[in-house]
Amino acid sequence: MAKVSVDQATCIGCEVCVDTAPDVFEMVDGKAQVKNPDGASIDVIKEAAEACPTESIKVEE
Ligand code: F3S
Repeated sequence: MAKVSVDQATCIGCEVCVDTAPDVFEMVDGKAQVKNPDGASIDVIKEAAEACPTESIKVEE
């Protein structure tokens, strides 16, 4: 199971992660949070992390 986290201090709420992996991330008060780390394949989660403009998403396999 992947360990996924979003740094609330650096997330600017651009929502790319939610667009990329809507079953993994959700927006709460304008910031992304992890709702289900198993909601997508590790490749998709990594894609979301790489797409984040502020590198706020950390993924550990
Ligand atoms: Fe925030 Fe990055 Fe997602 S800025 S909303 S964690 S793509």
